[in-house]
Amino acid sequence: MRNKIVAGNWKMNKSLAEAQSLTAEIIGMVADEVKGNVKVVLCTPFPYLHPVKSQLGNNDRIAVGAQNCSEHESGAYTGETSAAMLASMNIPYVIIGHSERRQYFGEDGALLATKVDKALAHGLTPIFCCGEPLEIREAGTHEALVTKQVAESLFHLSAVALQKVVIAYEPVWAIGTGKTASSQQAQDMHALIRKHLASKYGAVAENISILYGGSVKADNAKELFACADVDGGLVGGASLKSREFVEIVKAI
Ligand code: PGA
Repeated sequence: MRNKIVAGNWKMNKSLAEAQSLTAEIIGMVADEVKGNVKVVLCTPFPYLHPVKSQLGNNDRIAVGAQNCSEHESGAYTGETSAAMLASMNIPYVIIGHSERRQYFGEDGALLATKVDKALAHGLTPIFCCGEPLEIREAGTHEALVTKQVAESLFHLSAVALQKVVIAYEPVWAIGTGKTASSQQAQDMHALIRKHLASKYGAVAENISILYGGSVKADNAKELFACADVDGGLVGGASLKSREFVEIVKAI
């Protein structure tokens, strides 16, 4: 059975004190909501990884994740954080290839393939993001773009390595816009991604969790998560409010 995951992507938001209150509220509310194969991940800014992780203690339902890691192993890369550093802090997850990284930091498929390798080499689970901008959706070439993004950054992996990856499909036009993909649009793209994975990896594709991201809210999560190939969500804005986030967790 595939893992169900609700990951909050805090992006570059909150002071340390605010991050700690949000974490405390989520811990308090999530306790009874997470069952079976459901995991909750809080992807915090780098400076809050350690304090939030300490706050979680040995909570086995909620984990922390980073939002990025370097493609380099170590060395003179001022301002960067390596996968090895994250591993040394026992951080289990790292988002790789978020559309904001692709757009504002020029990260391309080949670079992201290297980041995926670094994360896996250090035992982290990459949450690999793909998704098309509005103009590509309007031109009708979104399927070609998303399958290319997946192939470019993941298809060099062995089947064993791929099984450790989580994919997040996030249409760029739905991120932070309040405009969610319909559940049919999400299901169609998730099924396409899974079929694409199956074309190379066969039955392994059935074990890969594919999350939907882009304006997931308490009031649309249930419908999205009910889709056969949607295994959870990567949640931005709504993960910054404990009540809303926990409602999304409950929807899974
Ligand atoms: P959003 O962001 O939920 O605010 O649309 C999702 C994301 O960027 O991961």
